[in-house]
Amino acid sequence: MIILEGKKTANDIKGEIAIEVAALVNAGGKKPHLAAILVGVDGASETYVSAKVKACEKVGFDSTLVRFNNEVTEEELLTEIDKINNNDAIDGLIVQLPLPKHINEMKVTEMISPTKDVDGFHPVNIGRMALNLPTYLPATPAGILELLERYQVETSGKHCVVIGRSHIVGSPMSILMARNTNPGNCTVTLTHSRTQNLKEITKTADILIVALGKVEFVTADMVKKGVCIIDVGITRVKSDKTKSGWKLLGDVDFGSVKKMCSFITPVPGGVGPMTIAMLLKNTLMSAKRVIY
Ligand code: GUN
Repeated sequence: MIILEGKKTANDIKGEIAIEVAALVNAGGKKPHLAAILVGVDGASETYVSAKVKACEKVGFDSTLVRFNNEVTEEELLTEIDKINNNDAIDGLIVQLPLPKHINEMKVTEMISPTKDVDGFHPVNIGRMALNLPTYLPATPAGILELLERYQVETSGKHCVVIGRSHIVGSPMSILMARNTNPGNCTVTLTHSRTQNLKEITKTADILIVALGKVEFVTADMVKKGVCIIDVGITRVKSDKTKSGWKLLGDVDFGSVKKMCSFITPVPGGVGPMTIAMLLKNTLMSAKRVIY
């Protein structure tokens, strides 16, 4: 069983990006610049955004964090996005999700210029992804592809089962794994809350990608021997065994499932750090005008 070490791989990628940034700046270019919009005071979003800002510093990017309180109107948010879209100093813009209920997330996503959409969530970029055209890939699915590639996990002709159909992970992941690319070329089954006989399906998976947000949902009896498991779940639960009083758990019961696996990602230190590394990669691509 091989652990897919996301934390280490993400650090390698950040090192590669830092070298490129230094070369850009040495050649008289400007530093890549990421802007992030954070609405409200959701604990998890706060953690993710501060990790993104810190990662920018680490690789030599500029970053701008724009905060709004929970009562911000959709109009105010759209106006800020328009301002950033038109600010030539900023290469990439993300709006941390989820947003408060009174704001239409799709309207916000569509307002971000596809050229600065380094989350890869804009319908134009999702369409380009589906058509295998150059684009910004959504960061979490891109991080998973990068792990599969760097650890040389064979995907061609394999049965990939995805649990969860979110716009951020499950849905794009299913498209990417079916594309005629490497990694890719899988036969893909996308499962979700209405799927019947889930266990019968997961037991046939060569690659199982789990992104449903239910702690330790996947157990050893649900998988076949030799499976490669990618655990996207990350939930904070109370613990009397850690100093902080909290621990992070995935969607996979790592302890019981690992003996069945050829490869598995840990939580924490698996997919999470890769998401941030790929966001940086997309921002660097935007600064270098690789796509648009
Ligand atoms: N919320 C959870 N994951 C993500 C992500 O990758 N990007 C944004 N903007 N919000 C998220």
